[in-house]
Amino acid sequence: MALPSDIINSSLNSPSVLKDGSKLNPDYIPERLPHREDKLKELTIAFRDIVNEPGKSSVRVVITGRTGTGKTVTARIFGKAFAEQVKNRGIKVEYVHVNCHRERTLYLITLKIAEQLKLSIPPRGLSSQEVFKIIHEYLERRNMYVIITLDEFDYFLNSSPPEDIYFIVRLYDELAVNVKRVSYIFIIRDLTTLSSLDKTVRDHIARDIIEFPPYKSNELYDILQDRVKIAFYDGTVSDDAVKFISDINGFDKGGSGNARLSIETLELAGRIADAEGSPIVTVEHAKKANSRLNEEASIILDELNYLELHPMLLVKALINLSKREKKESFPIGEVEDEYSRLCELLGVEPRRHTQVFEYMRRLKLMGIINTQQSGKGMRGRTTLLSLTFPASQELDDYVTKLIGALKNSEQK
Ligand SMILES: Nc1ncnc2c1ncn2[C@@H]1O[C@H](COP(=O)(O)OP(=O)(O)OP(=O)(O)O)[C@@H](O)[C@H]1O
Ligand SMILES: [Mg+2]
Repeated sequence: MALPSDIINSSLNSPSVLKDGSKLNPDYIPERLPHREDKLKELTIAFRDIVNEPGKSSVRVVITGRTGTGKTVTARIFGKAFAEQVKNRGIKVEYVHVNCHRERTLYLITLKIAEQLKLSIPPRGLSSQEVFKIIHEYLERRNMYVIITLDEFDYFLNSSPPEDIYFIVRLYDELAVNVKRVSYIFIIRDLTTLSSLDKTVRDHIARDIIEFPPYKSNELYDILQDRVKIAFYDGTVSDDAVKFISDINGFDKGGSGNARLSIETLELAGRIADAEGSPIVTVEHAKKANSRLNEEASIILDELNYLELHPMLLVKALINLSKREKKESFPIGEVEDEYSRLCELLGVEPRRHTQVFEYMRRLKLMGIINTQQSGKGMRGRTTLLSLTFPASQELDDYVTKLIGALKNSEQK
């Protein structure tokens, strides 16, 4: 038997298919953005008033789309390139990107903006409003403009008091200035978050909405090919492997259209090839990587087998809504309505609200659904529900079958 030291040494020296794994990191900013060229164009058109009529208006654009559709990377690339290009035209624009999931309050967000502008703010004692004023004076002194991306803005909308939301969004109602130097990109994964906001605030955010559709398989193929070129040694990734990953994830083929998951699968396939000592990443490695990443999802699907009729009907209600409305999350009331409709169709008595609520709590504990508070607004807070996995046709068929079986066993 080999000695541990020998195993370690030979493994350290064993060749890898990966030339530069960092090119597959989620934070890596690629040079090109295949299939988002039109979005870069739309963003430029939305922001070109900063160049044409500097200071006249504050631009705000919403970018929306499911997870892994390139919202963050496109905003970052746009912001950097836009700032560079307008510099040649004599306009100073800085780009600032803040993640509202990480910076959870208005105060932390304003500090982050200041930090990225390399502005030092006294450590304590200032309100967010005062910090914003300092930021604005700084921009004024330097005759500069700033595009601020508030990424994962859903979190901010869902967790902040209305006055903070109001302040960010209606900045120029509060700051008495003539030249508007702050413009925004709001990245919102799920637009239903907006529906619970006060109308005046909502209209201020959602003027210009750019939708990022989930990627089709041929689009994922191009994105993956770019990464293969920069992250792997020449000729170490088979075309079949790339095709497999793009097909399994392509939205047009029933996948989620998620580029992040596709790149993750490619990376894991590479590591599996390495672990097996294979000089080439084959479709088998891609399949293994895919099933390993899906294992977690399949454990959740297994749990469905143990549900009773009524919680199962709630899952079915969410599947129906997701498919019909092409959204991800729904107010609890809508889910209950759909559930009651299903009960009626099946000829069973719907459970009472408190019982339904209890089922939802359990489904959440089982990891089958997610719940989220909607933002505060005129209609008050409501709970939004979403499935933790895509509402695919297979899932729908599977759940429908389970419902049929449960209904039958109940009648016996
Ligand atoms: N068109 C593209 N070309 C190259 N890489 C892309 C493209 N779209 C997405 N990616 C890559 O896919 C990954 C996910 O993209 P990104 O983080 O921008 O998604 P997102 O829409 O912000 O998702 P989330 O809603 O989960 O934050 C990143 O590694 C990103 O570089
Ligand atoms: Mg993102």
